[in-house]
Amino acid sequence: MMKLQEQQILRAKLSATMTPFEIEAHLPLIQEIRLLKKEKDAVLLVHNYQTPEIYHGIADYVGDSLGLSRRAADLDCERILFCGVHFMAETAKLLNPQRKVLIPDLEAGCSLSESITVEDVLALKARYPGAPVVCYVNTPAAIKAESDICCTSGNAVKVVNSLKSDKVIFIPDEYLGQNVARETSKEIITHPGHCMVHEQFTVQDIQAYREQFPGIEVIAHPECPPDVVLAADYSGSTAGMENQIARSKARKIMLITECSMADNLRAKFSDRDFQVPCTICPHMKKITLEKVLRSLKEDVYAIEIPEALACKARLAVQKMLEIC
Ligand code: 13P
Ligand code: SF4
Repeated sequence: MMKLQEQQILRAKLSATMTPFEIEAHLPLIQEIRLLKKEKDAVLLVHNYQTPEIYHGIADYVGDSLGLSRRAADLDCERILFCGVHFMAETAKLLNPQRKVLIPDLEAGCSLSESITVEDVLALKARYPGAPVVCYVNTPAAIKAESDICCTSGNAVKVVNSLKSDKVIFIPDEYLGQNVARETSKEIITHPGHCMVHEQFTVQDIQAYREQFPGIEVIAHPECPPDVVLAADYSGSTAGMENQIARSKARKIMLITECSMADNLRAKFSDRDFQVPCTICPHMKKITLEKVLRSLKEDVYAIEIPEALACKARLAVQKMLEIC
């Protein structure tokens, strides 16, 4: 059982976005998961886009793709349970192959991850011989295996600048590639993949919010189209966005990203007023408390990557972690 004080702290966090009725409905499952994860020696890694009952209720660690990858590499537990999407759990498995890595729903995918095939990468390599391939972490292991180095939204510019070549193939996020291109002197070759959440935001959204809320600070994820990122005051990974809010003195914040991000931050920054034209990621929302409980009870779904493929894909991820 959770101690009374722990329950009160959790209720206070969840009350930033939930009614008392909703909170009480979640508590029994949260308690059961907390007990079972100890029994099963499982560590729960939770991405910033997970719902508040998961983020505040059951996480051992929360963060962005880069932070959670680093964390996964260091864990010494029997099971890593990933509350996020498939490529994130797969990256955890690449970095810590001895552990059992579980994802509660195999259909938690990503529009970016699905936007590119191995044939597409081979065609780009044939068209631009000698240009290194930087793959965004939002890709399956098979794409990472064909890439020279991986990157996340938190280190993409640093990764690109670490390469000797003047021309770099950047896959699969076209907008992130274009946003990186503005910050480097290298020529960036992109692929037309987009995030189904971030591609929806427009400069008109920003203009409307600035008119309605003078002085609002606009913070956008770099998967947004370049004109949106340019019109924002700050752009960075989900962890970068949180750090920017902590640094900022602005009372009103416009967060241009997935909906749960603001829901989770409302509890942490209760003195700020979040204005959000947010969009839900249907993949992130495949993860629920019920599925997490089943995952722990039945050991489903374990991530498996054929060793020959894992060896090649791991190199790209490890190279990234060495420089960032
Ligand atoms: P972060 O690495 O910034 O958390 O982003 C992951 C993601 O999927 C954003 O859509
Ligand atoms: Fe993929 Fe976009 Fe969902 Fe992130 S928000 S997991 S990039 S579809």
